[in-house]
Amino acid sequence: MDAVRWKGSDGKIYSGFQDGVKLLPGKLRLIDQTLLPEKLEYVETDNLEEIYSFIKRLVVRGAPAIGCAAALGLAAVSQKSSAADTKTFMDEVSSSADYLASSRPTAVNLFWALNRCVELLKSSKLKSPDEMKELLIREALEILSEDIEMCRAIGLNGACLIKDDTRILTHCNAGALATADYGTALSPIYVAHEKGLRLKVFADETRPLLQGARLTAWELDRAGVDVTVICDNMAAFVMRKKMVDIVITGADRIAMNGDSANKIGTYGLAVLASYHKIPFYIAAPYSTIDFSITDGSQIPIEERDRDEVIRGFGKLTAPASVNVFNPAFDVTPCELISGIITERGIIIPPFIENIENLYRK
Ligand code: MRU
Repeated sequence: MDAVRWKGSDGKIYSGFQDGVKLLPGKLRLIDQTLLPEKLEYVETDNLEEIYSFIKRLVVRGAPAIGCAAALGLAAVSQKSSAADTKTFMDEVSSSADYLASSRPTAVNLFWALNRCVELLKSSKLKSPDEMKELLIREALEILSEDIEMCRAIGLNGACLIKDDTRILTHCNAGALATADYGTALSPIYVAHEKGLRLKVFADETRPLLQGARLTAWELDRAGVDVTVICDNMAAFVMRKKMVDIVITGADRIAMNGDSANKIGTYGLAVLASYHKIPFYIAAPYSTIDFSITDGSQIPIEERDRDEVIRGFGKLTAPASVNVFNPAFDVTPCELISGIITERGIIIPPFIENIENLYRK
């Protein structure tokens, strides 16, 4: 992967490594995921409204990638500030962060990353906006490189669940496109593939926006992993036919009791996996755990535009006047989850105790 290097005033070189979410000098650069798999194109910006729109329109999507893009975007936008003192600069940064945080409600990584940047600036004793600008860049790049490390560690920890000839079902996209590196749910798959294991991956198409078909299938195929796309309503059939050994998905927010929000359809998959006695795993870093909520009923669920359901990709597929309900996420109750693959290891039930033990002690 090609690296972006940036020299701090301490003389150290800081790097942003990845391709899908990246900081160029003064600009955020992203793969435009709305164009995949047809076209691989990049967008660049240092404009706050554009960054908000990129997150809202899913130009960049996937919980960790949204967090990284927001932090890098905030840093890029703030470089242009002409604030003469630290208070004015801080006010500008806080209001930009609040605005970006209103782009999507479910993935906690967005709030986690923005909050981390704002709180760091507030607690710093820096004396000039220029120093604060530099700190912001450094922190955003740190968030990016931590995500890279967490993806790799999730891959190594999760790979023990995958043997030769394992058949894995995944939903939505929790791969390289959704993070700063290998992904979460796809990371153990990449690690196992690199080890030379034979694998078969079923990618749920993931209605209505087809992240599974457009993105997961695209990136696994490019990496040489054997991937088969199925429509969401085929999952029960392939499970019944004993064609799936394990289900692994990502998450957008995990409550302390292990209840996990992820792309709409994940809950249904977990119910199916339980019925067919197939292990169901969530893969996610600590930035996806919301330590402030006890269970999944407290997770806000994004509802998106009706046209995504009835006019997907430009074709009217239902009467234009019909009622539409379009929740983008659902919550899988913890009792359906076999384990949560994290950068620190695999958390098993009881999640509430084990999440505490792993992260709080
Ligand atoms: O609406 P999206 O495409 O942002 O939803 C993404 C997902 O649900 C992913 O599974 C989740 O964010 C984990 S990404 C590592």
